[in-house]
Amino acid sequence: MTPQQAAAAGRDGFRQRFGTGPDGVWLAPGRVNLIGEHTDYQQGLCLPIAIERHTAVAARRRQDGRVRAWSGVLAAAAEADLRSLAPRPGPNWFNYVAGVLAGLGIPRGVDLFVFGDLPLGAGLSSSAALEMAVAVALNDLFALSRTPEQLAAVGQRAENLFAGVNSGIMDQMASALGQARKALLLDTRIPTVSAVPFVPEDAGLALVVIDTRAAHQVSGGGYQARFEEARAAAAALGVPALRDAREAEVERLGDPLLRRRARHIVTENARVVEVVAAAGRGDWPAVGQAFFASHRSLAMDYEVSHPALDLVVSVAREVPGVLGARLTGAGFGGSAIALLRTEAEAELIARLRAQYARRGWAPFTCAAVQAAAGARRVEGGGTPG
Ligand code: GLA
Repeated sequence: MTPQQAAAAGRDGFRQRFGTGPDGVWLAPGRVNLIGEHTDYQQGLCLPIAIERHTAVAARRRQDGRVRAWSGVLAAAAEADLRSLAPRPGPNWFNYVAGVLAGLGIPRGVDLFVFGDLPLGAGLSSSAALEMAVAVALNDLFALSRTPEQLAAVGQRAENLFAGVNSGIMDQMASALGQARKALLLDTRIPTVSAVPFVPEDAGLALVVIDTRAAHQVSGGGYQARFEEARAAAAALGVPALRDAREAEVERLGDPLLRRRARHIVTENARVVEVVAAAGRGDWPAVGQAFFASHRSLAMDYEVSHPALDLVVSVAREVPGVLGARLTGAGFGGSAIALLRTEAEAELIARLRAQYARRGWAPFTCAAVQAAAGARRVEGGGTPG
């Protein structure tokens, strides 16, 4: 979806739903994390890129305190009053919207038409994209003057308090601060981002995302369990966060489960540094090797992989021209990434397709992605109301 397409679709969709034109249209990208997985809730490092798939919102200010929202993606409506915003039970898309509304404390209500081309449940941060699209829209419409970092923090709180997921801040930072041709070295301790060049295409390579179609659910229990285990490991080591732990100390941890969890996080932080350095000197094979090592660590030590993700990575290892592959995002299903020579993509898809067919699994999808710009207005915006 180009910005022009988003602007047109937002205008038309809003008018159909609410009978008038919107004040403006905003969009926010999904993200793919290159490396640095399950580190962000232990003050660690991550290296995401924003991608050219978006959640968008067309919005119009109201004179009263009502909020009306329509999701064109889910064909679902929701209404609320600004004075009584509260989490709704169960997985509910409106919680992400309500959490941002509550976090920004806007003076009057708003009508929202939500749409986009970012698949839900694929591990590409559709929820963070929704939060950031709404956040930039409200920031503009009500002249709130929040920085992208502040909007990301509002999104993370929405996730924590309204959606009940103890996620870190990676997804919101990536969606808010994405840049074309750059990966974002995110230090979640501060949190701050420094952009590093990431253009594998210039070396004849591509980064592909393989959506395994194994449904991924961050609100399931696995993510929360890892969050708690990581916290327990930090406490056992006597450090504020696993960011501060050394590998040798981790190996002395008595509890084997906590040892493995901590080992993943500590070695993963080191791999982020390694990948930034390797990409900087154009050493793509080293980047790929770090991807494979990350996947092994996520599968063996952190235990957040899934048979479909393991299959993608093991097939990828066998295909000449594939430099590396790993699960991306929370895991437990969702998507994997592979860094490969462009001409290797067809072979990877063919071999994987054969393996999927043998197992009778529903087909996966595979698409090349490039580093893209972050959340922004694509149409209108209005004067402060
Ligand atoms: C999800 C969370 C992020 C991060 C990743 C794992 O995407 O929302 O904060 O923890 O999982 O790296």
